[in-house]
Amino acid sequence: MDAVVPLRRASSKQWVGADTVEFRELREITVEESPRIPTAFNELDRVLGGGLVPGAVVLLAGDPGIGKSTLLLQSSAGMAQRGFPVCYVSGEESGRQVRLRADRLGIEGEHVFFLNETAVEGILEYLDRLDSSLLVVDSVQTIYSREASSTVGSVTQVRECTRKIMQWAKSNTVPALLAGHVTKDGTVAGPRALEHMVDVVLYLEGDTLGPYRLLRGAKNRFGSTNEVGVFQMAGRGLEEVSEPSLLFLSRHRQEAAGSAVTVTMEGSRPLLAEVQALTTHTVFPQPRRTGTGVDFHRLLLMTAVLSKRLGLPLSDQDVVVNVAGGLTIQEPAADLGIALALVSSFRNVSLDPWTVAIGEVGLGGEVRDVPQQERRLSEATKLGFRRAIVPGSRAAESGAGDLEVIPVRAVSDAIRVAVPPTRSRSPVTPVWE
Ligand code: TYD
Ligand code: MG
Repeated sequence: MDAVVPLRRASSKQWVGADTVEFRELREITVEESPRIPTAFNELDRVLGGGLVPGAVVLLAGDPGIGKSTLLLQSSAGMAQRGFPVCYVSGEESGRQVRLRADRLGIEGEHVFFLNETAVEGILEYLDRLDSSLLVVDSVQTIYSREASSTVGSVTQVRECTRKIMQWAKSNTVPALLAGHVTKDGTVAGPRALEHMVDVVLYLEGDTLGPYRLLRGAKNRFGSTNEVGVFQMAGRGLEEVSEPSLLFLSRHRQEAAGSAVTVTMEGSRPLLAEVQALTTHTVFPQPRRTGTGVDFHRLLLMTAVLSKRLGLPLSDQDVVVNVAGGLTIQEPAADLGIALALVSSFRNVSLDPWTVAIGEVGLGGEVRDVPQQERRLSEATKLGFRRAIVPGSRAAESGAGDLEVIPVRAVSDAIRVAVPPTRSRSPVTPVWE
């Protein structure tokens, strides 16, 4: 059907959304602020930058089994319930399978129109018969274009299908949500192959075995990519977690040596995070360093600083660092937390569980300022923490409420403040004795 191809100029490579070929002075071009369409989830809307923009194509990427289809179906139902008809295309699941999921999610499905079609030309033809307000395609790797000769799921196919969907979305000003599997091998086209084409790329992340899911913006033409949405996978689908800050602290941290709490910023949101470290003596000449949820280079930097500046003998120690709860911290503000956790494990003394440590650590062992210190501290205060170890120079401004704010200039100061001097002689009671 012709209607899906808005441009009938010679080049088939015409970029989508180009509605004019005349020069226009930039100041003459006006933009009508199109209203955003809210989805079923505030968390999703926030990551999108305030809801779906009509005509925008959003790629929802994530590992298989992470919850993409669940999120898409729940969002579809939420929009349909408010009177926006949704066209839900699945190349992955049959109507029966989607119906079963809907039952589990308590979704009746009024105004959600299911289509089990894998040819993009076919999908677009059906779309013209339906006055829909949202198009959902699950997943982009399962659909193909009759006009591309390569196999289903190849980069060429996935790009061609996405291009066609974008063209349709732009010319009909209907938003589209596409699910895309993250693939490790190069044979099937992953979301990376589409990132430059689509308007918004969101990653749904988390540990599939655990309940929490983070929705992170990787690209957003209509908003910031700083926002993070937090969800919990429950018996009836994804639930929003609106107060996520304590989520990532493990329950037994009081007793454990090698655990330090820091406050990390996920976009504009502070999250309390627990860094766990384990140092164990190794017989191998090259000790191992392993990090989960931390930037590996920062971990190496911390071990180097502790060895060189503080004389901590880590050269015969294997080092394992982990962030509890499946959280990933990229920012250097967690450095001080990592350093304290390492020292705590090495000395086998536990730290005060109600102390947080924030600060970037430099190569000289100095503790540097971090952005948004006040927000981090007020979150710690709100959650009942009693002490905060922070970079020295800004401490004066930030003493808030009942929180004792301790400024430090160097890692060594932080260790003096936070790590008790005693060292237990028999660190572990073997269970076999
Ligand atoms: P799914 O949305 O199918 O993942 P994806 O589309 O990303 O592959 O979610 C699959 C997992 O979610 C599956 O292991 C079961 C779990 N799940 C729940 O825990 N609760 C639910 O209500 C639903 C629908 C799924
Ligand atoms: Mg799926």
